[in-house]
Amino acid sequence: MTQKQLNESTEYLQSKGFHEPEIGIVLGTGLGKLVDEIEDSLVAHYHNIPFFPLATVEFHTGKLVYGTMGEKKVVVMQGRFHLYEGYEFFDVTYPIRVMRQLGIKKLFISNAAGAVNLDFKKGDIMLVEDHINLQGGSPLAFKNVAEFGDRFVDMSEPYDPEMRKKIETISQKHNISLRKGVYAAVVGPQLETKAEYRMLKTLGADAVGMSTVPEVIIANHLRLPVVAVSVLTDECDPDNLEPVNVAEIIEVAGKTEPKMITIFTELIKML
Ligand code: HPA
Repeated sequence: MTQKQLNESTEYLQSKGFHEPEIGIVLGTGLGKLVDEIEDSLVAHYHNIPFFPLATVEFHTGKLVYGTMGEKKVVVMQGRFHLYEGYEFFDVTYPIRVMRQLGIKKLFISNAAGAVNLDFKKGDIMLVEDHINLQGGSPLAFKNVAEFGDRFVDMSEPYDPEMRKKIETISQKHNISLRKGVYAAVVGPQLETKAEYRMLKTLGADAVGMSTVPEVIIANHLRLPVVAVSVLTDECDPDNLEPVNVAEIIEVAGKTEPKMITIFTELIKML
């Protein structure tokens, strides 16, 4: 990754009309419908954006959508890049850097995750308060990182407290029972064993998923205030573990999606 590449990606999007978005949003698996709320939308497919990570087959639908929500300009990633698809850490986080260079001042992230905390149920929303990186690497571990900012990025408060508070207020107002907790990121794509779910619980995780943490690290690197919400799609009970049902995970994500959309659209209005 070079600054020149970032400039070219950014200039391409600006030439398509992606003019000074204020807010960037990353939509997780099965959580793409928020783009229907965008007015006057413009679309850029990932495979057309210079230096965007090379698309895999399942990625032909991946796109950046720009437009207006709540009278603010937003840019939304419908589909993200995952390590388990064979991408590198700097590929997964490249779009975050591009959105920052386009001008975003805040970043919202969503994901589908499993509930490790068994007080939480599938269909719940969890506000991510902190995370555990179990992905075995970092998007900041590259030679010329100093050209882009600090190497030793502070992670004492990676999720913006002000926006978190606003999300709590919104949830109360809209009768969304909001869970709060720690998100553990694994590489995947295999789901966890019973022993791994027990380990995650012991480590202090409330939810587990295969994304988000690299993007949050880069947001902190860019001093970009970020919040993340997990849509809990399955219950990770090691003593009663059923075989994974990916169709059900996606179904639960879809059913729970409206709550996430409410949280993000209201948060945009409050900023
Ligand atoms: N584990 C990891 N990632 C996930 C899960 C899970 O149980 N559910 C949704 N994404």
